[in-house]
Amino acid sequence: MFKKVNILDEKDKHLRTVCEDAKLPLSKKEKDLIEQSIKELRYSQIEELSEKYDLRPGMGLAFPQLGIDKRVIIIVHEYEEGKFNNYVVVNPKITSYSDEMIAAEAGEGCLSVNREVEGHVKRYARVTIEGYDPDGKKIKIRAREDLSIAFQHEIDHLNGILFYDRIDPNHQFYTEYELRLI
Ligand code: NI
Repeated sequence: MFKKVNILDEKDKHLRTVCEDAKLPLSKKEKDLIEQSIKELRYSQIEELSEKYDLRPGMGLAFPQLGIDKRVIIIVHEYEEGKFNNYVVVNPKITSYSDEMIAAEAGEGCLSVNREVEGHVKRYARVTIEGYDPDGKKIKIRAREDLSIAFQHEIDHLNGILFYDRIDPNHQFYTEYELRLI
C-alpha cells in the first residue's frame, strides 16, 4: 500500500524555522516517516509511478517540510538510470567544501514550492557532510555535482532557507563563463 506524505507549502511557518538537533536514536514513528518519504521520493522519479500516484518529481525532503522542526534530511539520488541511493542524515553538517561553485542549469525546484522560480542558485561543487544515521551511528558522505546541490538545498531547509533566497535578484542567471552549469 502506498500512502503519500503530507508535504507543507512554502507559506507554512515550519519552512522558515531554524530546526533543533534531533535526539538519537530516532523514534519508530520518525523512522517510519523516513521510510515512507524515501518510497515517495523514489516513486516520484520513476515516470510510470509518478503519473500513477500523481507525484511531482523530487530528490529530497527535510523534516520541517513534514512539519517536524528537527534536523533530519532525506535524499534519494538516481546515480544511474533506474538506480537509486538513499541518504538519511540526522544533524548534518557540511565539514568541508570545494572552492569551485556550480549551479543547476535548469534552476532548482522544491516539493514545498508549487510554482516556477527561475534563476541559478550558486552552490559548492563538492561537499563533505558529517552527521548520524537514524540509529545514532556517525556517518560521513562526500557528494559532488547534483548530489552536492541536493545536500546543500536540504540542509538549508533546516535553517529556514529556501532555494530562491539564494538567487541574486541583480544577477539571476549566470553564463558558462561565469559559473559551471550542470
Ligand atoms: Ni526543498
